[in-house]
Amino acid sequence: MDLVRRTRRGNSILRFLATLESNLVDIHSHVLYGMDDGARTLEESVALLKIAAEAGTTDLVATPHASPQYKFEPALIRERMAELEAASDRPVRLYTGCDFHLSFDNIEDALLNRRKYTINQNRYMLVEFSDLIIFHNTAEIFGRLLDADMVPIITHPERNPLLRLRMEEISKWVEQGAYVQVTGQSLLGHFGKKALDFCEALLKHNLVHFLASDGHNAKHRPPTLDSAFAWVAQRHGEALAHMLCVTNPQAVLTGGTVEAAPTETGKSSRKWFQKWRKP
Ligand SMILES: [Fe+2]
Repeated sequence: MDLVRRTRRGNSILRFLATLESNLVDIHSHVLYGMDDGARTLEESVALLKIAAEAGTTDLVATPHASPQYKFEPALIRERMAELEAASDRPVRLYTGCDFHLSFDNIEDALLNRRKYTINQNRYMLVEFSDLIIFHNTAEIFGRLLDADMVPIITHPERNPLLRLRMEEISKWVEQGAYVQVTGQSLLGHFGKKALDFCEALLKHNLVHFLASDGHNAKHRPPTLDSAFAWVAQRHGEALAHMLCVTNPQAVLTGGTVEAAPTETGKSSRKWFQKWRKP
């Protein structure tokens, strides 16, 4: 019981430290209203920014979906962002980006419009895989994006059942030049044990470069990173938490260099892939 109390206290202290640090940078959120399944009204958008700011986030990328369900409209995004900035007294700095669904049409359009979908119109771009199919030529697709100076950031692979079967491919895509973002709430167990276990395996093998909230609403999926920061700091050290929630996301905003943490296992080898038990 004492240990539980101490752990809870430790978590809340680290959470508090994350808030004090006050420069958490969140590269994935759905705070712009009326664009997708995120915020529905301007008031809700304003409330989400307030929640983010109170949890220590200073910079937030609004990343509406570009998917068969939701049309991606850059002009409307800029309009909504200006509206939100005017209505909210700017408690956090906002940037544009996209939750880019990896589909044939989207890929073709991105190759024709190189900064349409990237974060802050720089080099990095969130890439969300379908839950139903993983293209066998994903490495080739990533190669084409990289050649066009668009760097894919694979979003929440831990939440995709097909990607959870593809640890080795993820590692190869990272070697090729892609990066990985996990959802903060996955670390807290909100997406189930399989997602959490996969996050742990990714972290262990140095395959996580960012935490992001993927915030959609105030109640179930808030745009906050402080608890996830505390979770990483407690289990893997504050330096890694800082890298995943502050320095790497900052580098994305400016098109700078993203760092990777040293691995526990040293150089990657095929051996650990064999040890990783598929769910
Ligand atoms: Fe998202």
